[in-house]
Amino acid sequence: MNNSNKVGVDNDSETVTSNTTQPKKLCEYLKKRKVMWITSTIIVLSIIITIPIVIIKTKETNNTNTTTTTTEIIVTTKTTQTIKKEPNTTSPSATRTSTPEPTTASTSTSTTTSTLTARTPGSKSNLLINGDAETGPCKASNDASPTGWNHLGSITQMIYNNTNVEHYFTDPGPSDRGNCFFYGDTSDKTNMWQQVVMTSTVNPDLIDSHTVYFHFSAWLGGWKHQNDTAEVSLTFYGHMNQVVGITVTVGPVTNTDRADITSLLYREANGLVPVGARSFVVSVAIRVFESGGANDGCVDNIVVYLHQ
Ligand SMILES: *[C@@H]1O[C@H](CO)[C@@H](O)[C@H](O)[C@H]1NC(C)=O
Ligand SMILES: *[C@@H]1O[C@H](CO)[C@@H](O)[C@H](O)[C@H]1NC(C)=O
Ligand SMILES: *[C@@H]1O[C@H](CO)[C@@H](O)[C@H](O)[C@H]1NC(C)=O
Ligand SMILES: *[C@@H]1O[C@H](CO)[C@@H](O)[C@H](O)[C@H]1NC(C)=O
Repeated sequence: MNNSNKVGVDNDSETVTSNTTQPKKLCEYLKKRKVMWITSTIIVLSIIITIPIVIIKTKETNNTNTTTTTTEIIVTTKTTQTIKKEPNTTSPSATRTSTPEPTTASTSTSTTTSTLTARTPGSKSNLLINGDAETGPCKASNDASPTGWNHLGSITQMIYNNTNVEHYFTDPGPSDRGNCFFYGDTSDKTNMWQQVVMTSTVNPDLIDSHTVYFHFSAWLGGWKHQNDTAEVSLTFYGHMNQVVGITVTVGPVTNTDRADITSLLYREANGLVPVGARSFVVSVAIRVFESGGANDGCVDNIVVYLHQ
């Protein structure tokens, strides 16, 4: 019994000791579980926290990508806007032609420099040489090529009242018409043109600071019901003889515009001289409508002047 008691005691003691160690183990176990829990919750929490962060970060990077692309778009639209502004500066009110005279463009290298020496624009004096066909011979019986102009074809200086042409002093037209006008004559298509250097007339800095304007006008017409027409174009060139801005055209004046009356009608265009412009070419084109007869398209009093 003792033994058993001892054993029992022993056992008891053992159980006691074991009882005291068991809670320790339990505690340790619980501690381990706590730690496990804590670490697992920390891990879970950290995962929960980091996932949105990662999502946000990726979204942010996506956003920066999209924002950079949008800024790129803004930049490109801005550049296209500035490109679009270029022609705006040239001549807002003037009519446009997309195709300037090819013959003019290629052959306009022979220059006729303006003899005007004033450096500030403002005088309304015509920068063109012989814009009114009054300089040099005028056709009464012999051909008279335009004085001061380059030309192709039959264009001629014609006297009013020529009985073959039947364009009279008394026909509607400019009051200051003088004696002569430019007349198409025999060619179906005929041209004349002259180049005027502006730097002797106007300080280029004024042009480049958007302060110089042009006035461009002409009287255009033809004979009775026939639709032979004339048009005049103005093109600006830079110091490298490159085209700057847009070609401005006045005319054509059709027989309908003239109400089938032999006459000359006034047409004008006004605008800003484009930045970089140093010279301009004025080109006249006279075309017959129905091939075979005389080319009765005609022009008088072509004027270009600059002002501020
Ligand atoms: C972000 O931009 C880069 C460079 O343009 C490109 O290679 C990448 O695919 C873009 N990423 C997204 C998400 O659009
Ligand atoms: C362009 O045209 C617009 C509208 O006609 C005008 O308000 C603006 O001042 C012009 N810009 C220039 C540089 O001429
Ligand atoms: C022009 O012709 C008309 C009609 O034939 C005539 O009346 C007029 O006197 C002429 N004018 C000149 C300056 O020749
Ligand atoms: C007259 O000529 C102009 C220029 O060539 C042309 O645009 C117009 O259509 C013609 N008019 C008629 C009635 O044929």
